[in-house]
Amino acid sequence: MKNLIGIDQEKAKELSVKLNNLLANYQMFYQNLRGLHWNIKGREFFELHLKFEELYNDAVIKVDEIAERILTLEGEPLHTFSDYLKVSELKEAKGITNGTEGVEIVVKNFSLLILKEREILSLAGDAEDEGTVSLMSDYISETEKTLWMLNSYLRYLAGDAEDEGTVSLMSDYISETEKTLWMLNSYLR
Ligand SMILES: [Fe+2]
Repeated sequence: MKNLIGIDQEKAKELSVKLNNLLANYQMFYQNLRGLHWNIKGREFFELHLKFEELYNDAVIKVDEIAERILTLEGEPLHTFSDYLKVSELKEAKGITNGTEGVEIVVKNFSLLILKEREILSLAGDAEDEGTVSLMSDYISETEKTLWMLNSYLRYLAGDAEDEGTVSLMSDYISETEKTLWMLNSYLR
């Protein structure tokens, strides 16, 4: 039996369950991002406070799209905190104030979400559900790009990144100090 949009009912049901699982995990992710946006402290406060806001605004759109896809497939989206807590594998991030730790949590959360999205993509492909395929493939490519950026940022926080400004400042100080040392030494002699 096909449903209203021409998808096998059993497969649509299976997809709704998986999408509800993604929804619960995304809601947890959303709340983690809000906590990070509020609690982050330190040198990276301004940039991370804004970045987390950008990410939770994007998450809120995706949460709505996932829920409405479930309804389109004739399922029922989970909508209570108690269900989200029961279903979500993604853990609550509580009281995180450190920037690096916060970004690492976001990377870990995204890595789990992307695995779930790939699984749904393949299931939707089997069910010839192009709507869900296209939704998942958009999420996957966006998340991959975000993961690349967050990973580069983590390297910058760890101090691996090229910092031309500091390099040039230090090399100026060194050459000036070397010259002063030579002069002071000549004076001592
Ligand atoms: Fe805010």
